[in-house]
Amino acid sequence: MSANPFLDPALVYGDLYRTGNRLAERTLALHQAKVAGQNAAQVIVDLLARRVSPGAVVVDIGCGRGTTTLRISTRLRPERLVAVDSSVALLQTVHARLAGAGGAGSTICADFHHLPLADEVADAAVAAFCLYHSPRPAAAVAEIARCLRPNGVAVLVTKSLDSYTELDQLVQAVGLDPDATRRPSLYESFHSGNLLDIAGTHLTVLDVLHEQHVFEFADVTRLARYLATTPKYQISLANETAELAAVLREQLPAPPYVTRSTVSYALAARP
Ligand SMILES: C[S@@+](CC[C@H](N)C(=O)[O-])C[C@H]1O[C@@H](n2cnc3c(N)ncnc32)[C@H](O)[C@@H]1O
Repeated sequence: MSANPFLDPALVYGDLYRTGNRLAERTLALHQAKVAGQNAAQVIVDLLARRVSPGAVVVDIGCGRGTTTLRISTRLRPERLVAVDSSVALLQTVHARLAGAGGAGSTICADFHHLPLADEVADAAVAAFCLYHSPRPAAAVAEIARCLRPNGVAVLVTKSLDSYTELDQLVQAVGLDPDATRRPSLYESFHSGNLLDIAGTHLTVLDVLHEQHVFEFADVTRLARYLATTPKYQISLANETAELAAVLREQLPAPPYVTRSTVSYALAARP
């Protein structure tokens, strides 16, 4: 087992994404708390818009619940859109969301280190908030480069190493996880600081954007919903969200509870 839960295959292929619930709750908790920072799917589509024509083939790798897939489908209307993920449950969600929005696209269950796609088949690829699950993200970038046509583009997205450190301090201060600040960053393998180097191993970086996102949790219940669904902490409580909220209510000063993360985007082309 890796010390970093985002790099532990038992968790990545198990509790984290076996069903879509945990990801949906974590994403919703962050979304509701966000007070600064653009919508990432929108930024990705904007970066691709000038480079993806209606006849294009686009691949969304590590597509998760398909938020970016959906936006690509409805905004860019590529000829072929393929959503790839290692979680069957999440691909079912993507399928349903695409159908519900009248979007077109197919899904493939695969490991992004071994994409079941032909060489030079795609005009564009996206890998958003997923390559930090790889201990060898450059190998996944090599796979993306292999599948891109010459001059095809990729948008790679990740977060900074210091994302949400305010919450590590908070969880440690209230005694819920005495080692919270000593645990490695969830993003240690692929983050804002090494994004350019890793993208540059097999692609030519054209543009990079770093944007700070700020989150204000309005009450202890909303904060507890996030803390109970991130794998960073080792908190053992029976009914996690309710009990966490009770502990937090007792120990914390009045809300809001503020935290930050830098979201970084690299636009890169296959040479
Ligand atoms: C945080 S979600 C990212 C969701 C999505 N890209 C977005 O921007 O909303 C990370 C996703 O990466 C997927 N994943 C993790 N390791 C993978 C691998 N080796 N191959 C394919 N998908 C993987 C997970 O199943 C999960 O759906």
